[in-house]
Amino acid sequence: MAQVRESLHGMWSSRLAFVLAATGSAVGLGNIWRFPYMASDNGGGAFVLVYLLCIAALGLPVMMCEILLGRRGRRSPINTMRELARESGATRAWQIVGWSGLFAGLLILSFYSVIAGWTLSYALTYLEAAMTPSFNLGEPGQMFQELVGSFPALTFWHTIFMLMTLLVVALGVEKGLERAVRFLMPALFVILLLLVGYGMSTGYFSKAVSFLFAADFSRIDASVVIAAMGQAFFSLSLGMGSIMAYGAYLPEDASVGGTGLMVAFADTFVAVVAGLAVFPIVFANGLNPEGGGPGFIFTILPHAFAAMDFGYIYAVAFFTLLAVAAWTSSISLMEPTVAYLVESTPLTRRGAAWLIGGVAWLLGLGTALSFNHWSGFTIAGLNFQAAVEYLSSNILLPAGGMFIAIFAGWILPKVVSREETSALTDGQYRIWLTLVRYVAPVLIFVVLLSSTGLLSM
Ligand code: TRP
Repeated sequence: MAQVRESLHGMWSSRLAFVLAATGSAVGLGNIWRFPYMASDNGGGAFVLVYLLCIAALGLPVMMCEILLGRRGRRSPINTMRELARESGATRAWQIVGWSGLFAGLLILSFYSVIAGWTLSYALTYLEAAMTPSFNLGEPGQMFQELVGSFPALTFWHTIFMLMTLLVVALGVEKGLERAVRFLMPALFVILLLLVGYGMSTGYFSKAVSFLFAADFSRIDASVVIAAMGQAFFSLSLGMGSIMAYGAYLPEDASVGGTGLMVAFADTFVAVVAGLAVFPIVFANGLNPEGGGPGFIFTILPHAFAAMDFGYIYAVAFFTLLAVAAWTSSISLMEPTVAYLVESTPLTRRGAAWLIGGVAWLLGLGTALSFNHWSGFTIAGLNFQAAVEYLSSNILLPAGGMFIAIFAGWILPKVVSREETSALTDGQYRIWLTLVRYVAPVLIFVVLLSSTGLLSM
């Protein structure tokens, strides 16, 4: 019988509530903003192929590790790792995995909030345009440049979004999240499908499909593999403790494999559909599918909204719903750290949410500046925002995932992991164990090593 520990922070009302919250965490800017731009920056099909392989071989198994460790520990990731290490007779140093997650979470939240701010700004601009017949939106590229060129505008929307996030976390994550995910995410999906439909009508759909799915193997090099692996972790919310923190509130009887599979599938599906919505518009407008950068969808999608009937209305709905999807994700970026502070310091949940929101907000100013005043300032060829994104997504998340897999596979006693995955058949459990013991650690290690240039691929 599993040793039942209580979570300090409340529990999900059901297994479905967990699946919705974890899907809310996973589906966000990663799918709709980052996936198309990563595919654009990394050669399309070559990237997508490696990405899908990473989801199956690394993402799903590591997601199961996070869910089961979280549920077993029933604490914030730092305390869960420390507690489970102690119970397993291993060194307390394993809590470093939790600390690195805390750091990665702050970094990601800082730029995530700025980008989510873009969606808020776009929603409002389109609302004005939809209501004022004489409103001139200008060229899509110009609209984007005007926004990111203005540090005050970026900071304004970044502040609003960070407040939205910290207020929900201050209230506790169960309230409100379920509703957002249950109704608003399907609505976002419907608009994505509408855009796919528009893409089909342009006559460039098949070109987009071959760009995304016909892999040119000669394009696969170390940097493409690192980008794809980082994107798999980013999109599934893995490697920093979001899913572990949510797993801590998961009822005892829910299946780790079943819930993990649902979340991974939903997330991947949304990313692929987003790709199918975006790339036909790129080709139909004679734009360059390569090297899009972070502004990619913000300069591409306006072409479609300008050409469609009722396009501005769809645009308002699209950017509003994308902001909601980002919101349910940013909440999960903040939750593990806030849960830790509530457990281990005298801070209240409210105080902790303001503190973490404040730190991430300050860091986010660097991102806001990197698009204007600091645009000339680069570290290893990357501006501030790109450097923070690269370090967190492509290095810290995979490294965190690697240690989480090693811990679940080698340190946690097998009786414990078997008990927590009792819904798996023996064969399924063996496959999972092989993936987390050997496949994930070795693959991630080799890819990380090659990113240092010590190993050339
Ligand atoms: N997965 C989310 C997205 O795709 C972002 C996110 C939430 C995240 N929690 C995370 C990314 C934890 C990495 C780690 O938008």
